Amino acid sequence: MIQFNHVYKTYPGPTHALRDVSLEINKGEFIFLTGPSGAGKTTLFRMISGFDKPSSGDVRIAGYDLTRIKSSEIPYLRRKIGVVFQDFRLLKGRTVFENVALPLEIRGERPTQMRRRVEEVLEQVGLTYKSSQFPEQISGGEQQRVAIARALVHQPGVLIADEPTGNLDSALSEEIMDLLEKVNAQGTTVFVATHDMGLVKRRSKRMIEIRAGQVTIDQ
Ligand SMILES: Nc1ncnc2c1ncn2[C@@H]1O[C@H](COP(=O)(O)OP(=O)(O)OP(=O)(O)O)[C@@H](O)[C@H]1O
Ligand SMILES: [Mg+2]
Repeated sequence: MIQFNHVYKTYPGPTHALRDVSLEINKGEFIFLTGPSGAGKTTLFRMISGFDKPSSGDVRIAGYDLTRIKSSEIPYLRRKIGVVFQDFRLLKGRTVFENVALPLEIRGERPTQMRRRVEEVLEQVGLTYKSSQFPEQISGGEQQRVAIARALVHQPGVLIADEPTGNLDSALSEEIMDLLEKVNAQGTTVFVATHDMGLVKRRSKRMIEIRAGQVTIDQ
């Protein structure tokens, strides 16, 4: 489902953000991606979501070969991936409902179907009662759940979450992790980047650690 084969990513400078990364993730897995700040976690996620390409090596995501993908195919790749960004990136002028509906609106979903699906996913993350609030009127944990709902609304096969608990206290972090585990139990492959080793140790899941762009642990 996700395959990296001897992947390098070099930014101008040069910064070697990824160096010889090989990894393989199967459908239905739950994986933590750990490593210090600047290790390359977001760079790796940007590739999975088709926002960036490798400098060399092969990346295959859900049947697409990133080195050969046509720009016209990228929207189709993105439909298979749900992304929770390191900062939530909610739109201030839109309600919770409208934020979650956005990916469906962009792809031209019919209003009745859109409403049904948004209600379903808001229920799944426990936010039905906040659907007409604006992002500034809800807590950080709730904003994070809106971001997760928006990433899930188009029913992607893979959910990648970049530091989804970065700004939350430990009780809320555990709640978000419980939610991500629930999403995984329903069949979505979940890949979570985090600095929080305590959180990783409390869940017995596969962990991939990268340091200075290289995979140092995969277990
Ligand atoms: N667009 C860019 N141009 C140049 N250098 C970049 C760019 N994006 C990231 N980098 C560099 O690549 C390296 C990896 O960055 P990345 O954001 O992937 O780290 P990270 O593991 O996500 O860190 P953090 O835990 O702080 O989010 C860093 O040295 C960073 O400065
Ligand atoms: Mg990052």
